[in-house]
Amino acid sequence: NDQHSALLDENSFLLIAHRGASAIAPEHTLASYQMAIDMDEDFIEIDLQMTKDGVLVAFHDDIVDRTTDGSGKVAEMDLADIKKLDAGSWFNAEKPDRAKDEYVGIQVPTLEEIFTAFGDSTNYYIETKQPDKSEGMEEDLLELLYQYGLLEESLPKGHVIIQSFSADSLKTIHELDDDIPLIQLTDNLEQEIPSPETFKLYREYAVGIGVSHKNADDAYIAAARRAGLLVHLFTVDRLAEGEKLKSWGANGIFTNDIEAVSSLK
Ligand code: G3P
Ligand code: CA
Repeated sequence: NDQHSALLDENSFLLIAHRGASAIAPEHTLASYQMAIDMDEDFIEIDLQMTKDGVLVAFHDDIVDRTTDGSGKVAEMDLADIKKLDAGSWFNAEKPDRAKDEYVGIQVPTLEEIFTAFGDSTNYYIETKQPDKSEGMEEDLLELLYQYGLLEESLPKGHVIIQSFSADSLKTIHELDDDIPLIQLTDNLEQEIPSPETFKLYREYAVGIGVSHKNADDAYIAAARRAGLLVHLFTVDRLAEGEKLKSWGANGIFTNDIEAVSSLK
C-alpha cells in the first residue's frame, strides 16, 4: 500500500529501538519493548533466533550466558528450557541505577508473545539471526506475520521491515513475498564504499542497507542513497552523532537510548 509509505520515504528519519529501550531496561523483553513504545519510537527492533524445538524467540547472542542466569546455546535448548531463564536480573546487577524489582525473573519472549502483546500498535524491524542454521526460519516468520495480520494491505508499507546480514535469508523472504521491505545489513569493516554494481545487487531485493555508523561516512551514505537505497545506521546512542548522520542524509538510526535521541524525530 504505497499511499502510506512515510516509513520508507526517502526523506524519512526513523528511530529504531534497538533490542527495545535497551539502555534502560533488559534487552529483548516485553518490558523493554513497552518502554520504547511509550517513548514514541518508530520501530521496535527484534533479533530472531530459533530454539532447538523450532520456536522463534527474541534473543541477540547465540548463547544465553550474557543476558540470562543460564548458559549454553539458544539453538541447543528447547523453548521450555529458555522459558525457565531469568532474563532480567543480569540487568539489575549491571545497571543498579536502572534496576527494577519487576525485572527479576522476566522471561525471554517468543515472537508470538510479542505480536500478541503489541499487535499493530508498533512497527517491527525484525532480524533473522543465524538463518543458515535455522531451517525454515523465514517461512515460520512470515506465517506468524500473516497469522497476526501484520502484513495486511490496510497497514502502512514498512509496518514490518525484515533485516539480515545474510543476503540468502533476505532473498528467501523476497521469493516468498516480494512486498515486504528488506534491509541488507553490513558491518562494512573494510570501510569501503561498495561499487554501484554491488549496491545495484542489494537493490534487487532490498529497499535499503543497515550499516555500522563507525564504518560509514558522508560519502558512503551519499553513494548508497544515489543507488536508491535507504540507509539506517547502527548503533547510535549520542544525539550529536545522530544529528551528524541525519545531516549526511541517513534515513534513520538504531538506538539503545530512544530518550537521548528523541529530538531527532
Ligand atoms: O540490526 C542492526 C544491528 O543490531 C546489527 O547488529 O549484532 O546488534 O544485531 P547486532
Ligand atoms: Ca540486530
